Amino acid sequence: MADGPYRTHRAAVEPGGAMLADGPRAQMSADVRWGLAQPQKQLPSKYFYDTRGSELFEEITRLPEYYPTRTERELLVDHVVGWLEVIEPATLVELGAGSARKTRILLNAMHAADARACYVPVDVAGDFIQATAGELRAEYPSLEVHPVVQDIADPLQFAADLRRPVLFALIGSTIGNFEQDAAVDMLANVRRAMSTEDRFLLGADLRPGRGKSRERLTAAYNDFAGVTAEFNLNILTVINRGIGTDFDPDCFSHRAFYDADQGRIEMHLVSCSEQEVHFPGGDVVRIGEGETIRTEISCKYDLRSIEALFGAAGMSMDRWFQDQEGLYALAVGRVEP
Ligand code: AVJ
Repeated sequence: MADGPYRTHRAAVEPGGAMLADGPRAQMSADVRWGLAQPQKQLPSKYFYDTRGSELFEEITRLPEYYPTRTERELLVDHVVGWLEVIEPATLVELGAGSARKTRILLNAMHAADARACYVPVDVAGDFIQATAGELRAEYPSLEVHPVVQDIADPLQFAADLRRPVLFALIGSTIGNFEQDAAVDMLANVRRAMSTEDRFLLGADLRPGRGKSRERLTAAYNDFAGVTAEFNLNILTVINRGIGTDFDPDCFSHRAFYDADQGRIEMHLVSCSEQEVHFPGGDVVRIGEGETIRTEISCKYDLRSIEALFGAAGMSMDRWFQDQEGLYALAVGRVEP
């Protein structure tokens, strides 16, 4: 039998696609089954980032419509570098595998002031941060690099031993992928690791407002070249290869819109027809014509909502940097003695 679920099941072990070990495959299978059983079907956005997905995201960051990456970089160069000279952090703890380019802006500034500066990247993607750590050790011979492979939502136990002050950083609008409760939990987790001399740097994409139109925001997720659409559809290929389902990427289209009530962009995949998805083992999920699978939320913030987020996590607002057009912000949190 060439057709049916077993065809795609074999694809899961074909050369050219990374095969998942039993643990991660079971996790992905459980995530996908759970997500497709929800009233609003959904898939976890962490599954965008296979090799192809990471390349596509890199391409997104260079698109004319996608302002967040370059705006954040400008804010780092124009405002944060000068501010770091005042704070003089001894250690940078970067939460989530950040863009190496933006990390280097922070490291350059810290390294210039203190050649013994320490860099602690924290991410679940062990291979990725080990590779980045190797590159940075070569580039900055006196920099101490201590990668920590763990979920950033788990207690940051290593933090007790760090040279202070520590700059904790969660940049790149990563916070956008978290629902409100999860965002508060994560910041509270950082807060528990902080001393009063430490600071927390948060990068957040801003809601439409004065200077920032809703069109400007939505265009960032609906680029003319179609790279975001390809990025969105790629999640189906990642899942087919990972667990042997038979999603047909040709039978879905990209949709991204701003939900003003929730203050967030949602990305969906829209089914072009009534179709079935088969799982190895025989389970079948039906998807109606026009029905959507939500693949990502990207929450947008403003000064007040970040103040509220900091407050709920036990931090207070120390500094706020934003660009002239009000596109993007870097907020700095601290803890009171
Ligand atoms: C990596 C989560 C910050 O939400 O803007 C880009 C991912 N999705 N285009 C974002 C993304 C579609 C991005 N983050």
